[in-house]
Amino acid sequence: MMNKKIADLINEQINKELYSAYLYLAMANYYEEQGLKGFANYFAVQAKEEQDHAMYFRDYLTLRNAPVVLKGIAEPKAVYANLREPLVVTVTHEQEVTASIEGILEAAQKEKDYATVEFVQWYIREQAEEESNAENYLAEFDFIADDKAAVFSMDHQLAGREYHKSTPTLG
Ligand SMILES: [Fe+2]
Ligand SMILES: [Fe+2]
Repeated sequence: MMNKKIADLINEQINKELYSAYLYLAMANYYEEQGLKGFANYFAVQAKEEQDHAMYFRDYLTLRNAPVVLKGIAEPKAVYANLREPLVVTVTHEQEVTASIEGILEAAQKEKDYATVEFVQWYIREQAEEESNAENYLAEFDFIADDKAAVFSMDHQLAGREYHKSTPTLG
């Protein structure tokens, strides 16, 4: 069985991933209300990916015969001042998640839990992508923000995002 400290951190991370799903679903709802169905679609797909991230950690705890402990999920921010704000919140949120994942990696290194050191690499790479995507969409939005037709065209582009299971499968 795995080190309890590491199992606790991963259980906390499951909660953070499910909170991320909740946060992005709230953003999807916000954009639906604003009539931007493409932005809404983008964040609804993102919410599903975050659920995948939670499940992959859950499956890993199960593989290591460690107990899975589900805590309450905090209420997400649901009111936004403008179309830009969710994109800003996404950048800072993903940076926080990256720091949290790095915390698991550092703890696993310290405890010489090399299976977890190896497992968490997938998330390290995924977070680099998530931060990059969040920064790019914010930059794109800032480039066009004053042009309603361009925002509508970005909405059309985001409508094309399809959900694909985003995590590997544990053997
Ligand atoms: Fe995630
Ligand atoms: Fe994420």
